[in-house]
Amino acid sequence: MIVSYLGTKGGTGTTTLAVNGAADIRRITNRSTVIVDFKHGPGDVALFLGLRPRYSVLTALDHLAWIDPSSLSKYVVEHECGLHVLAAGDDFSRPAAREVEAVEQTVRALNSIYDYVILDVGTSLMMPAAAALQLSDQILMVANPDVPCLRNLQRLIDAVKTAGVPRERLHIILNRASEFGVLSTAQIESVLGFNISYSVNSDYRTVASAVNSGVPVSALRASEINGQLDTIARAITGVPEMSRYRSGVRVAAQADHGRAEV
Ligand SMILES: Nc1ncnc2c1ncn2[C@@H]1O[C@H](COP(=O)(O)OP(=O)(O)OP(=O)(O)O)[C@@H](O)[C@H]1O
Ligand SMILES: [Mg+2]
Repeated sequence: MIVSYLGTKGGTGTTTLAVNGAADIRRITNRSTVIVDFKHGPGDVALFLGLRPRYSVLTALDHLAWIDPSSLSKYVVEHECGLHVLAAGDDFSRPAAREVEAVEQTVRALNSIYDYVILDVGTSLMMPAAAALQLSDQILMVANPDVPCLRNLQRLIDAVKTAGVPRERLHIILNRASEFGVLSTAQIESVLGFNISYSVNSDYRTVASAVNSGVPVSALRASEINGQLDTIARAITGVPEMSRYRSGVRVAAQADHGRAEV
């Protein structure tokens, strides 16, 4: 399964949700899972997990690694939680439009050797996002509850649909949903004409402390945001919630595929 995280604006929390989504999928399923930093230009995925990889996705593209998928393991680094990471390169102009075929082939090759391929494609619909989104089984669009972000989200939904991606693959995650004075979920859904599938509260202390320790949020003590991230990963993978979340931490994120409408 290929799952892409697409930001609706810079800084909405796309990398935070992609890294934690990937780590939670690995933890919940114990299946082989890789996260690829497919943001155009340098990205933060490896940094968020405290990793310093020698190679990047650009090295894999340059060495035509997709021709022999087993060679991709040379460019991947493993986090202590078992998640594999294919980091971003340092080149601000790559992956470039001319690399579309290489990007597609690399995603397909990763999908042939991993059970779950998680892509952080950043905020742009340029390469490599354009190619990756076409191949994705699910696209999670990360938005914050503010007017500029929601205006971009509306445009992004239209653009992704125009690019031929079926609407049932699109889901919205509202990040920092709990901040004071923001638009309500009902207001946002009514303006967008599209349901919000998941909400994640604002909790800078927890996400910052996870990044500072180079671990996913799930490695820290139980918190509301931890339960919300767990719920999203379970909805993606179809693995039911564990009883400790049902009886302990309150879970506010909601899987709502059935109601999504454009
Ligand atoms: N739910 C949250 N609550 C509080 N802070 C958050 C939350 N999610 C993300 N942040 C913080 O917001 C900042 C931006 O997060 P992140 O880097 O994940 O965003 P991004 O969309 O990937 O940004 P970029 O456009 O630079 O790729 C970080 O400092 C992160 O810790
Ligand atoms: Mg990012």
